[in-house]
Amino acid sequence: MPSLDPDVIAILKSLPPYAGHESAAPMLPRECYTSKAFFEFERDAIFAHNWMCVGRSAQIPNHGDCFGVSVAGEPAIVARTRTGDIRVLGAVCQHRGHVLNCNADRPEGLLRCPLHYWTYDLEGRLVGAPRMGDMLSQLRDTVRLPQIRYEIWHGFIFVNLDGKAPPLGPSLAKLDPYWDGYGEDELVTVPPVTAATPVPWNWKVNLENFTDAYHTEFVHRGTHDFAPSLHAALPGGGVTFTPMADGDNAIVRTVPMLQADGGMMSDGWGAEASFPAIESLSLEQRSRLTFAMVPPNLQLMFAPGVVSYTLLLPAGVTETFASSDRVTGGGWILPKSTLALPDFPDRAAAVLEGASKIWAQDVPVNNAMQAGKRSRFMPDGRYGPLETTLVQFNAWLLRSYHRALDAE
Ligand SMILES: [Fe+2]
Repeated sequence: MPSLDPDVIAILKSLPPYAGHESAAPMLPRECYTSKAFFEFERDAIFAHNWMCVGRSAQIPNHGDCFGVSVAGEPAIVARTRTGDIRVLGAVCQHRGHVLNCNADRPEGLLRCPLHYWTYDLEGRLVGAPRMGDMLSQLRDTVRLPQIRYEIWHGFIFVNLDGKAPPLGPSLAKLDPYWDGYGEDELVTVPPVTAATPVPWNWKVNLENFTDAYHTEFVHRGTHDFAPSLHAALPGGGVTFTPMADGDNAIVRTVPMLQADGGMMSDGWGAEASFPAIESLSLEQRSRLTFAMVPPNLQLMFAPGVVSYTLLLPAGVTETFASSDRVTGGGWILPKSTLALPDFPDRAAAVLEGASKIWAQDVPVNNAMQAGKRSRFMPDGRYGPLETTLVQFNAWLLRSYHRALDAE
């Protein structure tokens, strides 16, 4: 990696040591949330060296389907090839570097650079380059779009710009049992509508808010009471956490619901879920919600009727694009039978309404947390017993940060 900015090195040297994923690390210095230079450091240390979720394989069912993504600021295209495989390609024309896109006016099954009509198949091979004369055949043999490493995990496509990063699957093994009983072959995806404008807080603020079991009782009065973090009469007494081993890439909290088969409805979490419970789930699964963070950019929620997800696209230190039912609609993995219900549009609208109410409660909190990072009075911070996931996320970050500093 390029040599680090001196301001970034100063921030990194002020960090607490990484002492394992269960250690009670203090909060990060506020500059980690406010410094543009630190965000540029994270672009490489975090987003270019970890697995980034870019969408679902169901979004490109047929040969020729593709969509564009940005990974650590790099333009890329995710495509389905003629043989049915997925390819993730660096989306920069190998002629003179024009960025490629998946616009509808491209020839079927090909990518075409708008500048001089150089065309590529979806394996990334150059197939045409007008007016290049005798050079064409040699170009065809040698020019290829860069291939980016990817892995599919339960239908999610993850990419990694670091060719040496450990594989993704084992790092998410502790999440696999949560998929049991969902009947994945029968699930369909309603992708989130991609956000057009960014939210004005750091990407870490978004993840901290998502994973925080402590705030729901206070911030989400009226929308989250159905899934309490503390409730003596419910299984586990409330929220439960999972251990975090070194190398784990999932941070998980599970909360009980007041009744089985609840879920999102027009007022937030409630008994009359808009998406019907999946009958092949266990009673235990039908009685709980599991919130799983896959840092740095996927938030997952396992509910009895749906697995919903948010994709984060960090674009600047306080510019984070967030796409999910809370913000833009969609981000649902649910049974075909639910999608086929004649009143599905009404049900989806109710889920969006309820999720939007929760989001409306989170927006001022996230704004205020970001504002606090600019204050000289920001504390070193302390964590309580309901904040295990925040400690785990901090440790995950410290591990990545220290790894980059050690490599310097
Ligand atoms: Fe919240």
